[in-house]
Amino acid sequence: MHNYNSNLSKKILHWYDDNKRTLPWRTIRSKKKLEFCTLVSEYMLQQTQVKTVIPYFNTFIKRFKNIETFSRAKKTTVLKYWEGLGFYSRAKNLHESAKIIQKYYGGHVPKNFEELKSFPGIGDYTASMIMAIVNNKPYIALDGNVKRLFKRFFLLPELENKKNLNLIKNKKKYFIHKKRHGDLAQALIEIGALVCKPKKPHCIKCPINNYCLSRGTELVIKKTKKIKKVNYIALCYYRNNRLLVTTKNPGGFLKDMITVPMIKKNNFYKKRWKKNFKLLPSIIKHNISNLNLNIRIAISDKNIYLPEHFWIYKNNFKNYPIPVLTKKIFQAININ
Ligand code: ADE
Repeated sequence: MHNYNSNLSKKILHWYDDNKRTLPWRTIRSKKKLEFCTLVSEYMLQQTQVKTVIPYFNTFIKRFKNIETFSRAKKTTVLKYWEGLGFYSRAKNLHESAKIIQKYYGGHVPKNFEELKSFPGIGDYTASMIMAIVNNKPYIALDGNVKRLFKRFFLLPELENKKNLNLIKNKKKYFIHKKRHGDLAQALIEIGALVCKPKKPHCIKCPINNYCLSRGTELVIKKTKKIKKVNYIALCYYRNNRLLVTTKNPGGFLKDMITVPMIKKNNFYKKRWKKNFKLLPSIIKHNISNLNLNIRIAISDKNIYLPEHFWIYKNNFKNYPIPVLTKKIFQAININ
């Protein structure tokens, strides 16, 4: 494998220049802007597809401009701009990181991998992307795309246990470029997304097919994500145009966002909540991370008090950060 990396990287970058998608965070010139935009895009791209992120990224960058103004924004404003994008802890973590950068790093993204990893919401993956893109340091982020590409390219075991993951990680060293490492890291993601696709890889179009150990075999890599199904009842207390909501949903998800109180279906029946509610027949389906939620709606016009819950007027909803799940519930009870 000698002389492997410079050749490989050249071919990859050449392909990237001709075939990359023009994404808004890839057209930034100024270094300061690049720092802010990379932070924002990499947080947004955690667990979310490129095409979903693009419009959010554009509005976000327009509204907040740079790390300094962003760090001074209110948390609810930040969440409002994240509304609909999901995984809202990312928004809070990004905001916290910007504050730390502003306060302790003179408004500049740290140049050190371990330091980056100590920031809220930044793990190996995001720290690697930031190191590559902002600091041009030889880090490669292993997302699903790049892992799949490596598994095929080096014909590695598909099963993702610790040992096999180390085998994959060990291959990062073959991908390095002195001047354009950020582009190289993104180019690997790009090949995975556009060429080395999960089901039907277009091996003919692949810039590194000459070296690939599974070239032309269309080796299918299975997904490893484990899905958990859960049934919830959404308790909608709705009275005189006001709805009882919380930002501390006991289910544990969507923290800081507006939800109605929710309980596991079994508890609903066990605790005889049932007699106070009218249960709607429809079922809302919603996925959060590895959770597949099935939600039924129970409505009551009782006036109650619950700690950490508050009533908001229907025509005031727009001033709060409302996640997609809550919007679906509004729709089901016809109050949006
Ligand atoms: N996923 C994570 N980071 C990315 C990037 N910079 N471009 C495209 N997809 C990504």
